[in-house]
Amino acid sequence: MSDVIVLGIDDSEGARTALAWAARQATATGARLRVVHAYDLNLAWIEADNPDIPLWERRAQIAARQLLERVVNDVVPSFDASRLDLHVCGGRPEAVLLQEARAANLLVVGSRGRGGFAGLLLGSVSQRLAQSSPCPVVIVPPPSRVPTGPARL
Ligand SMILES: Nc1ncnc2c1ncn2[C@@H]1O[C@H](COP(=O)(O)OP(=O)(O)OP(=O)(O)O)[C@@H](O)[C@H]1O
Ligand SMILES: [Mg+2]
Repeated sequence: MSDVIVLGIDDSEGARTALAWAARQATATGARLRVVHAYDLNLAWIEADNPDIPLWERRAQIAARQLLERVVNDVVPSFDASRLDLHVCGGRPEAVLLQEARAANLLVVGSRGRGGFAGLLLGSVSQRLAQSSPCPVVIVPPPSRVPTGPARL
């Protein structure tokens, strides 16, 4: 069976850079590429029996799926579709990705995402994954941090 590279993406430049790296790595090694986006539908302030919850969940799933398709089509439009899985899941990104990492050979993320403070070197999702992942983790730096071009393995 092929190796599986799991990549977490949000809609950020850091995630796009990580996607380009992971796709190149998957192509070079023959691995499958599983691209994952975790959406967080914060319903803590809503009564559990609110009848609109299933509709909101469905909308969040659709938006998450659209995000995945848009970013993948932008960054790696010609990646072999037979070795590509797109997966959306509700929950905190680090929890979703840690679960995914259990069935992966490699977990890939960008060093920064959409949130956080400008100037942070590493986002909280990447940091937690580096500390707790059950499989090896690659944290892809932004191109600006590598003046001579991205590292190649
Ligand atoms: N919702 C998500 N789903 C999947 N992967 C994600 C998600 N959010 C972030 N990632 C992955 O983690 C990488 C780093 O993002 P992270 O969230 O750690 O940084 P940040 O947004 O800059 O800071 P913070 O979220 O701590 O405020 C992203 O480039 C992406 O690869
Ligand atoms: Mg973030």
